[in-house]
Amino acid sequence: MSDAVAAAIAELKETLGERIVTSNAVREHHSHDTSRLAPVMPDAVAFPASEEDVQAIVRVCAAHGVPVTPFGAGSSMEGHIIPVKGGISIDTRDMNRIIEISPEDAVAVVQPGVTRKQLNTELRDAGFMFPVDPGADASLGGMASTRGSGTTAVRYGTMRENVMGLKVVTPDGELIRTGSRARKSSTGYDLTHLFVGAEGTLGIITELTVKLHPIPEHVSSAICAFDSVRGAVEAVIATIQYGIPVARVEFVDEVAIANVNAYSKLSLSPAPTLFFEFHGTQAWVAEQAQLVEEIVKDHGGAGFAWTTDAEERNRLWQARHDLYWATKAGRPGCELYTSDICVPISQLAEAIEAARIDIEGSFLTGQIIGHVGDGNYHVAYQVDPNDERELAEAERLVDRQIERALAVGGTTSGEHGIGMGKIKFLRREHGAAVDVMKRIKAALDPQGIMNPGKMGSAG
Ligand code: MLT
Ligand code: ZN
Repeated sequence: MSDAVAAAIAELKETLGERIVTSNAVREHHSHDTSRLAPVMPDAVAFPASEEDVQAIVRVCAAHGVPVTPFGAGSSMEGHIIPVKGGISIDTRDMNRIIEISPEDAVAVVQPGVTRKQLNTELRDAGFMFPVDPGADASLGGMASTRGSGTTAVRYGTMRENVMGLKVVTPDGELIRTGSRARKSSTGYDLTHLFVGAEGTLGIITELTVKLHPIPEHVSSAICAFDSVRGAVEAVIATIQYGIPVARVEFVDEVAIANVNAYSKLSLSPAPTLFFEFHGTQAWVAEQAQLVEEIVKDHGGAGFAWTTDAEERNRLWQARHDLYWATKAGRPGCELYTSDICVPISQLAEAIEAARIDIEGSFLTGQIIGHVGDGNYHVAYQVDPNDERELAEAERLVDRQIERALAVGGTTSGEHGIGMGKIKFLRREHGAAVDVMKRIKAALDPQGIMNPGKMGSAG
């Protein structure tokens, strides 16, 4: 530990007392996320209870030039929260207060450590929901920082569309407010959306104002197996182009179905499959399901089965959300090397087909799943993290997918973010715009203490 870090920790102990921790177990917990990337331990972990605490931590760290890396639920997927340069990990776990729920304005004001499930539990009685659903019970601060989304973005948008305003502690310890609770505003630079997706490299989010949506009167889910991947994907493209406002549409290939069946004790037929969800009035939900049923029949879909039974629905979606863990369990001891491609919807069938050909030509086992209504899909390769040959092969295949996506107007990452895992593609995707990003970073964080080694300082 450097003298500067030791001095910062000693000073922070005076303000935070037991809320700054240097034990190995706690540092280890903050050294990694869910990705395959190598862990790095912070020198200490701070647990602020208020935005004043966050300001105090950042001020002390700024005075000593010590790195700070924010930590939410630890569920990020590209190494965002790995403190590659050591320093202090700021865990927002205890800033978990729902400050206000306003049914009149359909907004909630929350601290960053509030998780999406916690918020939805609180909202239920008021008849509202916060729909952004990445699967993991992620913190709202982390979801905003990674511009996360998940299964419902096709209908309700990502964090970009659902965060209206923020409070942020900037790298010099100032507390600023961005945005407002008005539904629109044409004043000033859009700082809210600068911090949403900045992955903690420009400041620490200490409060969020988010949009709420009414809980739909009726919800139904449907599942449908296809005789080909192409048929399934083309059914989705037709559904979107037709303008049917599906609330979710997820693709799961036959390899992933086998993993789901084994892990979640289901008996789905091992075929390329679409999971749908529809929201609306009873009549509107039935109409959407009928329209989609026609479309899937035209594309080789068989046995379109839909249900409004809540228990059955939850079981299905829980199984979908557990897919990451189901896939890891499919090869004990493996890590997943995943891609997070997003392409314009018109390019989706070609993109997924090319990914299939890659998998078939490789010695690795891979599967394809995706939030296909957004043109977003993941290929997950099961790799032995200690086998250089396997890691190199997964990297080669994922890099090829990214190159193909960029060539047709797509993006390296639809929802997981850049973190460390995809940083090498930032310039490939954004060209000279990366230099503008670096100038923004240098202007706001001249010492480079905010989540260093990531976006804005690397790439
Ligand atoms: C998901 O869609 O389940 C998550 O983004 C994780 C994954 O890549 O599988
Ligand atoms: Zn996903």
